[in-house]
Amino acid sequence: MNQRPLVIIGAAGMLGQDLAKVFADQEPLLWDRDQIDITDAELVDQRLAEVRPGLVLNVAAYNQVDEAESDEGFAIARRVNADGPAILAAACARQAATLVHYSTDYVFAGDQPAGYREDTPPAPVNRYGESKYSGEAAVLASGAAVYLIRTSRLFGEPGESPGSKKSFVDTMLALAETRDTLDVVDAEVSSPTSTADLATATRQLLEGKFGPGVYHRTNSGACTWYQFACEIFRQAGVAVTVNPVPASAFPRPAKRPDYSVLLNTKLSAMRPWSEALAAYLEQRA
Ligand SMILES: NC(=O)c1ccc[n+]([C@@H]2O[C@H](COP(=O)([O-])OP(=O)(O)OC[C@H]3O[C@@H](n4cnc5c(N)ncnc54)[C@H](OP(=O)(O)O)[C@@H]3O)[C@@H](O)[C@H]2O)c1
Repeated sequence: MNQRPLVIIGAAGMLGQDLAKVFADQEPLLWDRDQIDITDAELVDQRLAEVRPGLVLNVAAYNQVDEAESDEGFAIARRVNADGPAILAAACARQAATLVHYSTDYVFAGDQPAGYREDTPPAPVNRYGESKYSGEAAVLASGAAVYLIRTSRLFGEPGESPGSKKSFVDTMLALAETRDTLDVVDAEVSSPTSTADLATATRQLLEGKFGPGVYHRTNSGACTWYQFACEIFRQAGVAVTVNPVPASAFPRPAKRPDYSVLLNTKLSAMRPWSEALAAYLEQRA
C-alpha cells in the first residue's frame, strides 16, 4: 500500500466510520467538517499540500434526497456533491494522490429491467441524482487517479456527524418501538448494502489487481422497501405488522428510480444483503 498518508474525508459519517475502522492499521487522518470543507478550494489545496496524501477516500456528501428538490436544497447538493468533489479531485491531481469517491444508484433512471452496468450512461430522475452525477463527471475528468464506486441503500452504525442520515434499518427499528403496524412502500427495487462490507470491499479493491475506474459495489440481491422491512423485523425478532403499499401512498418531493440494481461486471460478488443485515443486527444488539 501507499506510504504517503491516507486521508478519509467525511470520517464521522456512516460509511466514513467503517472506513476508519477498516483502514485503522494505516493510521488514517480522519477529517470531517472541523478539519475541512470540500467546497472551499483554497482550504482543500492548503490541507492537501500540507499533508501530501497518497490516497484520499471521500465520503463527504449531501444525502437529503427530498430536500435537494427545493432550490435551496439543490444549491447545497450541487456545492457538496458536485463542486466539492471537483475541487478535491483537482487538488488530488496536483498532489498525485489517488482519490476514491462514492456515488449512488440514483444517478440512473430506474427504467431498465436488467439493471445498470458500470458503463451505462446515467440519467437521473431527481436533483440529488443530478448533483451526484455532476460530481462523478467532474472527478472522472479531473486527471487524478480515481476509483468511482457506486453503491446503494447503505445501512450501518449511524454516523456521529449531525448531517448523517439514519439508515432505513435503524429508522424501521425505531418506528417499531412505538407502532404495531407500519405501511411500507412495496416498490423501488435496489440492493441494501452494509457500510462495514463496503468499507472492506473498498480496501480489497485498492489492494487488488484492478486500477482506477468505475465500480459497482453492493451486497448481492435486491428488494423493495417492504421486503427489506419484513426481513429486518424477521431477523430482529420484532413483532410488527407490515403492510405493503404503493409509492403513491407516500407522496414525496423527489421521484425515485423504480429499479436501480447496480450490476457488477468487474469484481467478485459481495455476500447477500440478508447475511450482511444479520451481521449488522448482531453487532448492534
Ligand atoms: N446513505 C445511503 O443510503 C447512500 C446510498 C448510495 C450512495 N451513498 C453515497 O455513499 C457516500 C457515503 O454516504 P453516507 O450515508 O455514509 O454519508 P453521511 O453519513 O451523510 O456522511 C457524510 C459526511 O460528510 C460530511 N460533509 C458534508 N458536507 C461536507 C463538506 N462540505 N466538507 C466536509 N465534509 C462534509 C458530513 O458532515 P456533516 O454531518 O457535518 O454534514 C458527514 O460527516 C456518499 O457519497 C453518498 O452519496 C449513500
